[in-house]
Amino acid sequence: MMQQNTPPSDNALVVEDLVVDFALDNAFFKRRMMRAVNHVSFTIPAGQALAVVGESGSGKSTCARALTRLVNPNHGTMELDGLDISQSNESLTRVQLAKQLQMIFQDPFGSLNPVHTIARHIERPIRIHRPELSNEQVQDLVIETLETVGLTPAQQTAEKFPHELSGGQRQRVAIARALATGAKYILADEPISMLDVSIRLGILNLMADMKARGLGFLYITHDIATARYFAERTAVMYVGHMVEWGDSDSVTQTPKHPYTQLLIQSVPEVGRKSRQGPKKSPSGQIPIWTPESVGCPFVARCPKASDLCKQSMPEVTQVATDHFIRCHHAD
Ligand SMILES: Nc1ncnc2c1ncn2[C@@H]1O[C@H](COP(=O)(O)OP(=O)(O)OP(=O)(O)O)[C@@H](O)[C@H]1O
Ligand SMILES: [Mg+2]
Repeated sequence: MMQQNTPPSDNALVVEDLVVDFALDNAFFKRRMMRAVNHVSFTIPAGQALAVVGESGSGKSTCARALTRLVNPNHGTMELDGLDISQSNESLTRVQLAKQLQMIFQDPFGSLNPVHTIARHIERPIRIHRPELSNEQVQDLVIETLETVGLTPAQQTAEKFPHELSGGQRQRVAIARALATGAKYILADEPISMLDVSIRLGILNLMADMKARGLGFLYITHDIATARYFAERTAVMYVGHMVEWGDSDSVTQTPKHPYTQLLIQSVPEVGRKSRQGPKKSPSGQIPIWTPESVGCPFVARCPKASDLCKQSMPEVTQVATDHFIRCHHAD
C-alpha cells in the first residue's frame, strides 16, 4: 500500500488497494487467474505527476485501464476529486468520466482518425463535453487549444490531416484533444517512447506546462530518467506490485529496493547499449503472479533473497520522509 504525505483529498486522483486479475488463457489452466495488479495504492494531487516505472508486463497500463474502466478491477476504490469513479458507481457514465480523465497513448497516429482534420479531432470532444458553446466559440476554442500545445500557426494546423504532421506534432494533437475535454487528470502511457529522441523533451516540457495549469498526470514509462525529470513522485512496479515509491529524487538517486537498483544500473549511459531492463539471473525468470502466490515477487532475481523472502510478502518500510519500499532487506 502506498503511504501518503497528502491525505486523500478533494483535489486528487486517489487509488486505494487496486487489484486486477485476468484469466490465464491456457487450455490446461482454464480456471487459473493471474494477478496483473496486486494491491496498488497511490495519490496524484492536482498539478502533480506520479511516474510509474517498471519492465514490460509489470501492470502499469492495467492500472491506467482500470482507472478509465477499460478493465474491471476485482477490488479497490478509485476517487477523482472526491468523486467515486469505481466500477460500482453506475451513475457515472463513460462520457462523464472521460471529461475528467483522459488517456494519451504511445502511438499518437493510432489514436487519430486519418480521414479527419486536426480541427475535427479537437472539435468533437468540445461539442460533446461543452454543448452550451456556439459554433463560433467552438472554433475559437479549437484555435486556442492548438496554440496552447504549441501547434502554431494554429489555423493552418487545424486544416491539416494527421499524416501531414510529424510524430511530435501528432502527440501534441493528442494532448490538445485531452485538454479540449476539460480533463483534470491525464493518464499518459509511454507518451514519448515512440518519438524521436530530439523531440521527446519538448513533449515532456509541454506536459510540465499542463501540470503548472493544474492538471495531474499518471506518467507511465520505462525510462526512469524522464520519471525524475517530469514527475514529483515515482512508483516502481514489479509483477503487479509497487515495490518502491516516493519522492522522485529520493527514489531515483538513492534507490533502496534491489529491483530499483538493478533498473537504474541498466539505464544506458554513453558507450553502453542495454535498454532491455536489468539482466535476469539464470534462475531468475519473471514469475506469473496468481492470487495464491506467496512471498516477495522479486525473490527469483534478487541478489539478497533469503528463505524469508520466499515465504512472506514484505511489509512496507519507510526509508525517508517520502520514500517507501517493500523489502525484507531494507537497510
Ligand atoms: N486484457 C488482458 N487479458 C489478459 N491478460 C492481460 C490483459 N491485459 C494485460 N494482461 C496481462 O497483465 C500483465 C500486465 O500487463 P500490462 O499491459 O499492464 O503491463 P505493462 O507494465 O503496461 O507492460 P508494457 O511495459 O509492456 O506496456 C501482463 O502479464 C499482461 O499479459
Ligand atoms: Mg503498458
